[in-house]
Amino acid sequence: MSDESGEPEVEVELEARLEEQETFEPPESFVEQANVTDPGIYEEFEEDWPECWERAADLLSWNEAYGTVLNDENAPFYEWFPDGKLNASYNCLDRHVEEGAKNRAAIKWEGELGETRTYTYNELLNEVEAFAASLRDLGVEEDDVVTLYMPMIPELPIAMLACARIGAPHSVVFAGFSADALATRMNSAESEYLVTCDGYYRRGDALNHKQKADKGLRGVEHGVQTVVVDRLGDELTHFLGNDAYDYGELVAEHEGASVEPVSRDAEDMLFLMYTSGTTGEPKGVKHTTGGYLAYTAWTSRAVLDVKPEDTYWCAADIGWITGHSYIVYGPLALGTTTMMYEGTPDYPEKDRLWELIERNRVDTFYTAPTAIRSFMKWGETYPDRHDLSSLRLLGTVGEPINPRAWKWYYKHIGNEECPIVDTWWQTETGGMMITTLPGINEMKPGSAGPPLPGIDARIVDSEGETVDPGNAGYLTVNNPWPGMLRTLYNNDERFIQEYWQEYSDEDSDEWVYFPEDGAKIDDDGYVTVLGRVDDVLNVSGHRLGTMEIESAIVGIGGVAEAAVVGGDHEVKGEAVYAYVILEDGSEPTDEMRERIVEGVEDAIGPIARPEAVVFTSELPKTRSGKIMRRLLENIASGDELGDTSTLRNPEIVDEIAERAAVDT
Ligand code: WTA
Repeated sequence: MSDESGEPEVEVELEARLEEQETFEPPESFVEQANVTDPGIYEEFEEDWPECWERAADLLSWNEAYGTVLNDENAPFYEWFPDGKLNASYNCLDRHVEEGAKNRAAIKWEGELGETRTYTYNELLNEVEAFAASLRDLGVEEDDVVTLYMPMIPELPIAMLACARIGAPHSVVFAGFSADALATRMNSAESEYLVTCDGYYRRGDALNHKQKADKGLRGVEHGVQTVVVDRLGDELTHFLGNDAYDYGELVAEHEGASVEPVSRDAEDMLFLMYTSGTTGEPKGVKHTTGGYLAYTAWTSRAVLDVKPEDTYWCAADIGWITGHSYIVYGPLALGTTTMMYEGTPDYPEKDRLWELIERNRVDTFYTAPTAIRSFMKWGETYPDRHDLSSLRLLGTVGEPINPRAWKWYYKHIGNEECPIVDTWWQTETGGMMITTLPGINEMKPGSAGPPLPGIDARIVDSEGETVDPGNAGYLTVNNPWPGMLRTLYNNDERFIQEYWQEYSDEDSDEWVYFPEDGAKIDDDGYVTVLGRVDDVLNVSGHRLGTMEIESAIVGIGGVAEAAVVGGDHEVKGEAVYAYVILEDGSEPTDEMRERIVEGVEDAIGPIARPEAVVFTSELPKTRSGKIMRRLLENIASGDELGDTSTLRNPEIVDEIAERAAVDT
């Protein structure tokens, strides 16, 4: 967390980011119609905390009213809306049908090859019920974890909602993750059910997904029942194998089934989502039914300005938390039309997304800075070909956005008429935490904005003391919120260690959440998030643990030691750099390098593919034997190396830098 001098490591990064701060007022046309426009909301939430969160709970339909808003008796194991009962699938489907929206589009899906499918709320409800009945027939009971390993096809949200309907938590594994990653997650969750598909399209090619799922299943330590969606039709025959059920057949058999939504306690688990942390083992983040759904609905309404009549598009993948919260649960809870796109933004042409926005008259577009940097690189000729005037609001999430990319997005996609919300949050927070409210606050490119109403975020030094505006420090959240994770699956101890130990004062029962990000705040209370201060990389907005990658590399025959760090990358934000020491007798050949790259892809997936593998005879270490990652990062980013005098082996630094220059 801090280097040898005890100073926060984020200090250096801050200097690189200090630019003259421009501000932008929210466009008048937007403010006039915005869901939330009263600046008094901040004060109201503060004065009325935690009862202010009833406003979020009121966006949902409850079967039984909750007793209190917050139970903090067993902090940090907080309970929100305890004893309240509800069902997430009922809230996302039935109630909209009952309230007259049965024929409104719930999901508008577009496949990469151009085929489209629309599910009205009524159609979506019918298919969710049919699949919920199918899952029950397979033996799925309340609280059984069902793993969903699917790309961006409608059956993914359908399966999520079917699970929610019968009270079976889902654990979605990003389709780009490897077979090994699937197995690790299924073993950790002791999940006995898997829903997957035969394949999907990427840049026009059919990818065989089932093969990867099968390989993963061979690493699962218990019996599994598998359901396979036929996405590719005739493209891949015999996709089922011997022991899997066909999704299409199951749903046809159960057509017309009526499945009563199970009444879940607000604190019952809705889903698990595995994410990367400091140690090698991925963490199973547990989210619950009441608080999570209330929080995602509330933030969708207040920040994304979602209205039922909108066509709303979050271009994330449902395999990550952004897709869970802001493609599926938040938007559907509000009864809007949510878009899904299967493919890549540059297929068949680099204007694919803009074409989609024009044709569907999309109101809101929410994406990641890495995507915006790609669009910027491709140039404005692509968006300029299309009428994007239907857009009302733009959003970004996942990593810091540099002011240049922000301004490009504002001008070339939003035509200077759409506010941008730069939303800071995490898998663990469930929903947005720091962002402007688009109908209220002015925008400052590069700065996410103030903490949302009801959120007490602060910037502190390593002792937990608040730092002055303008100085870098560590971000903390000093009161709980409804969307927060409740624990790490089967690991309460690690939950405390990872998030609460650093800054809490257990004796006085004061609990402070530490998200492991560095940040600074300005005089107006705007927070600029500087990035992770732990060993987690953010590659194209995806979280990757350096330890996970290192353990994949040292598992390869001939490798003695490895250190993985992030280096600056123009589009990805960060790229994976691997410094590798080979065992005596192993040669640093291209073949070895290839084996290392493949080893990482097998263990995690192509998203973790190293940008560079640098062979070295030693790693730079402090006298106490700690690897000086800072130096390795500087080398990867091509930065000044700075002081190496505290090293035990300073001579190695130049050698590595020379190698890196040749190898990358
Ligand atoms: C980073 C994604 C700066 C941050 C929703 C956080 C951001 C991590 C922003 C969580 C933002 C996310 N500005 N940094 N607007 N949004 N981050 O769990 O480092 O995949 O800790 O959740 O992404 O990544 P995760």
